[in-house]
Formats: sequence, C-alpha cells, structure tokens
Amino acid sequence: MGKQKTKTVYICQSCGASSLRWAGQCSACNEWNTLVEELISPQKAKEDIWENSIKGTPLPLSAIDSVQEQRLVTPDHELNRVLGGGIVKGSVVLIAGEPGVGKSTLLLQIALQLVPHTILYVSGEESASQIKLRAQRLSFDNDRLYIAAETHLESVVGFFKKLQPSLIIIDSIQTIYTDLLDSAPGSVSQVRESASKLIRLAKESHTPIFIVGHITKEGNIAGPKVLEHMVDTVLSFEGDKHNSYRIVRTSKNRYGSTMELGIYEMQAGGLREVANPSEVFLSGVDDSFSGVTISATMEGMRPLLVETQALVSPMAYGTAQRSATGFDLRRLNMLLAILEKRCGFKMGIKDVFINITGGLKIEDPALDLALICAVISSLHDLAVPKGTVFAAEVGLSGEIRAVNRIEARIAEAEKLGFTEMFIAASQVDALSKTYKQIKVLGVNRLDEVFRQIFSGND
Ligand code: TYD
Ligand code: MG
Repeated sequence: MGKQKTKTVYICQSCGASSLRWAGQCSACNEWNTLVEELISPQKAKEDIWENSIKGTPLPLSAIDSVQEQRLVTPDHELNRVLGGGIVKGSVVLIAGEPGVGKSTLLLQIALQLVPHTILYVSGEESASQIKLRAQRLSFDNDRLYIAAETHLESVVGFFKKLQPSLIIIDSIQTIYTDLLDSAPGSVSQVRESASKLIRLAKESHTPIFIVGHITKEGNIAGPKVLEHMVDTVLSFEGDKHNSYRIVRTSKNRYGSTMELGIYEMQAGGLREVANPSEVFLSGVDDSFSGVTISATMEGMRPLLVETQALVSPMAYGTAQRSATGFDLRRLNMLLAILEKRCGFKMGIKDVFINITGGLKIEDPALDLALICAVISSLHDLAVPKGTVFAAEVGLSGEIRAVNRIEARIAEAEKLGFTEMFIAASQVDALSKTYKQIKVLGVNRLDEVFRQIFSGND
C-alpha cells in the first residue's frame, strides 16, 4: 500500500476513546476488539462552532423545487420493480447476499443489458478473464462495458474520470481499500471509508453505483452495520443453494417502497426473470397426495401461491422430531401445540416434517391454516380436495384470524383456477366484491375447517 501523509487514529467504537496504536482491548472501557482506524482532519478539531463561516442556507419548504428523480430504466423488470421503477441517478445501492447466490451474475447481466450506456465494472474478486468467461455464458453483449480487476479505490476514481460511465459496479466493497488508511481491505475502517468516498462520488457526479456486500454467517452484512445506513437502497439477494429460485428483497429504499420483491430463476445462461411466481411454485402439484396443501401468501406486495408438504409419522425415537424447511420451527411447534391442546390431536407422540416447496422461506402468518391442514391431512392420510386454497392465521386458542390484503390473495387464487378458498369468517363480509369462479368460505375455528374439508372425503 502506498503511504500518504494523512493522520489516522484508532477510535473505540464502544466508548469513543482514541488511541494512537491499535490494541486488542480498549484501555478506557476495557471492551475487546472495539478499536477501529479512522481518519482525522486536523483543522476540524480547532474550529470554533460560533465562528464558523456559513455554508448554504436553509430554505422554506415551499421555495424548494420539486424535481422528479431521474431514473435509468433497465430491461430487467424485476430489478426495476425492487428499485421502485429503475436506477435513480446518483443513488448508491447495496446488494447483499451469501457467497454463490448470484450477485455477480445479476450485476454483470444488468451491465450487459444496459446498451448503449458505458458501464464500469470493478471486480476485486475475479480476474478480467474470469468475468469474460462468465459474460460468455450470458446471452447479452455490450461493447461499452469496461471491466477493471482493481481493488485500489483511488484508481477506481481515476477510471471513473476517464470513462465517465453511466453506472459503476463495485464487486465487492470488502475487497476495496484506500491509501488513506493502513488497515487491511475488508476491515471495518476500510469498508466504511471506501464506501463513504464512493457515495460522495455518486452524489457529486450523479452516477449510480451498485455495491456488492458479503453477508457473514450470522446474516449481517460483513463490515460495519453503518454501510446500510450510508447507502440509499439495500437489496438482499436470497436463495437456497440447492434450489434454482432467487429472491431479491428491498430492505431499505430512499426512492421507493420496501415491500417489493423480485424473483429469478438461476439457469445455465444466467438469471431469468420469473414473471408469474405462483405458477412456478405450484408446478408439479398432485393433489391426490395427503399432506399437501396450497396457501395464498403475500411476498412483499405480490400474492404468491405456495405449496406446503407435511409428513406426520409415529415417533421413531424417544423424543418427537420436528423439522421445518422454509418455515419457522418455533411457529411450527406453536401450531402443533394448538392442535394438541385445542383440538385433542396427540401430536406429542408424532414426528412432524414440514417443507415449503420451491426453496422459499415464508414468514407470512397466512400460511398457518394451510400448514395445519397439511399436518392433519398427513396424520389421517386423507387428501385435501383438489382446488382448495387457504389464507388465514391461527390464533393460540385455535381461532381463525384475518390476514392482510385478502382480496389480492383471492384474486390470485381465482386466476390460477382454484375453486374453494378458506379465510377468516370476519373477513368475508368486508369483501368488496363477490367471486364467481372461486367459492370463498369464512371459518371461525379449526374444527369447522377440518369438518368441511375432510368429512366430504369419506
Ligand atoms: P455468482 O454470481 O458468482 O455469486 P456471488 O457473486 O453472489 O458469489 O454466482 C455463482 C453461481 O451461479 C455459481 O454456482 C454458478 C451459477 N451460475 C449459473 O448457474 N448460471 C450462470 O449463467 C452463471 C453465470 C452462474
Ligand atoms: Mg461474486
């Protein structure tokens, strides 16, 4: 690393004490591993707050021009959606995800599709020829995509001045370092300092920047949490390695809703947009099996029909096993306890396995009723009639509770040809229209549901 004459100091992130040398333990508060290198600018400390010259003036709200932010609309509809209608000029977007989920693929694919814009793709992770190889797998081409296998921040700024690109991609922030600090790339101070320089570059030049950020095992964006506060938009890229579906969620967006979600499928030729997610996640359903139910859930603002599979079998060992893929295990345990206590099913002596197909993780409580019905269906080996769909939360006393955006859920189920839908009775009267293709059934309690779906079977 080249040295420049700047002063740095180690600041304890816990108590704020400063020290000239790094140490494992802060001498002031005795916390461990809290010292982080930071730049100091000597003049700042001497400034008297009252004597300061005034920079800028506050304006009355009415005097401020309302300018619509300019957006670079990409050919990728899923990305446009999660960003709130395209890439805002001068915005900084953090894309966070686990290694191998497809962050580099997505960004390269977008860069290739943004013809005729000049794009600067800075990769500190792969060599230029590796990126070329990857680009050849994707079916797009852009002559004005420039690749820089570079980790030195000041060089990146130099490339920017020379190329004047319409978009910069930094893959990843953990590999970038600035000369101003001695710390290693990937350290808290380097990540924070490099990110703040990049953000300044974006704001001053009105050039959007995408920054890739790795996620640690605990699910945090590696490096300081402040990175999330500094950028305008945070997209999290999720997916199961063993499954081809990928979800991009907006967890922060200064220029749009955070309820949005994009769905892709990883294929041999890159990421393909999934425009009708319900159809994909339902394909291959054979309703004649017991233990399978369909639920109308919401993922962000989009209704999504998902399939739940349950397998209930007599306890194989001394303690009952419970396992859930794509669903919160604690919530599963709670639902099983409700079945035991409120409906008299002996769940304590059963092994219960749950799987949400498609590799999705569902947090929507509207899945409760479908999950419970899948469990009972497997327990009694009775299939739920074809064409049935559920959307309701189940309360601790076994009551069926209302869920949000019920009409969007019903409309999606109707569109996909479902004929019967169970929802909370309290929501039926509030529906603004009557549905012709699908019969909407309001229920109050679990036993009512079981009677309606399982008694017709025998
Ligand atoms: P990558 O974009 O390198 O992930 P990240 O940057 O998040 O670490 O994605 C790597 C995975 O994607 C890798 O396992 C190979 C797979 N892949 C495809 O299946 N199809 C493709 O066209 C490409 C480019 C990658
Ligand atoms: Mg990568």
